[in-house]
Amino acid sequence: MLIRSRRSWEMAERDATPEPVYRDRRRLVQAMAAGPILLPSLAGALLGGGPARAAEDDPSARMYPAMRNLRYRLDRPVTDEKQATTYINFYEFGSHKSVAGPAQALKIRPWTVTFDGMVEKEKTVDIDDLLGAMKPEERLYRHRCVEAWSMAVPWTGFPMQDLVAYARPLSGAKYVVMQTFKDPAMAPGQKQFWYPWPYVEGLTMAEATNELALMGTGLYGKPLPRQNGAPLRLVVPWKYGFKSIKSIVRFTFTDKRPVSFWEKIQAAEYGFWANVNPEVDHPRWSQATEEVLGMGKRVPTLLYNGYADQVAGLYKGMEGEKLFM
Ligand code: MTE
Repeated sequence: MLIRSRRSWEMAERDATPEPVYRDRRRLVQAMAAGPILLPSLAGALLGGGPARAAEDDPSARMYPAMRNLRYRLDRPVTDEKQATTYINFYEFGSHKSVAGPAQALKIRPWTVTFDGMVEKEKTVDIDDLLGAMKPEERLYRHRCVEAWSMAVPWTGFPMQDLVAYARPLSGAKYVVMQTFKDPAMAPGQKQFWYPWPYVEGLTMAEATNELALMGTGLYGKPLPRQNGAPLRLVVPWKYGFKSIKSIVRFTFTDKRPVSFWEKIQAAEYGFWANVNPEVDHPRWSQATEEVLGMGKRVPTLLYNGYADQVAGLYKGMEGEKLFM
């Protein structure tokens, strides 16, 4: 009998509705007992999230809400907005989960974005000019952190392939390197000298131009809150969340593979590729399952976070690489 089974990321639109969230203190206590996660502690999370300041002072607010692209669907309810905007990793503002409050110090205008390296012509553009040149859309994506928790959120943004076309890289460019701002006076986490600031991440050109790679500018039908990486962040849902660099100021095209922020800190635990795979454990914990924030339960993790149809082909013939960490 032929049974048409839905792909894991497909879901009836009526199912993709927010659900009330409850904070599972026990999960956090268990996580803390299991030892440090990315690096330092989860202790701040127990104290509750900071304020999620609305982005009402953001001149791009009129772009929202954008039309949802129905091609991208979920297999679980959308995470409660409060949870997704208060349970945060943004080390520039502190190495714990309650940085939503401190991140309100992020000054998002004026904001410029530089395109340099192997491009036809280097340029620095104002963020609002860049946003004006792009066509925003909303997509429902899963978001899987290497710490084994996940969310499902409605991002607004534009395809990264449009940003690459805008940058006009030379044909010899093999990677795009992204960089977060560096301003320790504004972001006190950057005074922690043992981290290799600024935060840097990279993708191959094939990854950056894959249909799933999104430049995030909004969340829940509004401009991105500062703590989630305003005004411009990467969203690559088939990779662990640390690849999705926040608050980007520079895109550099190069033929040399970059060493990214977490790889510099601990290469044995965090690599360049960082594709999600339930069968490849983190050296200190299993990646087989994940805690879906707000659902209060663990679910099996999916290969490439459920996006294998779109991205597995990128890695054909690369078996020698550490593709999953
Ligand atoms: N980008 C910067 N600049 N600084 C960070 O600390 N944390 C990463 C990623 N991007 C981080 C970052 C990690 S570890 C994760 S899981 C995601 O952002 C979290 O995104 P969210 O807080 O919007 O859920």
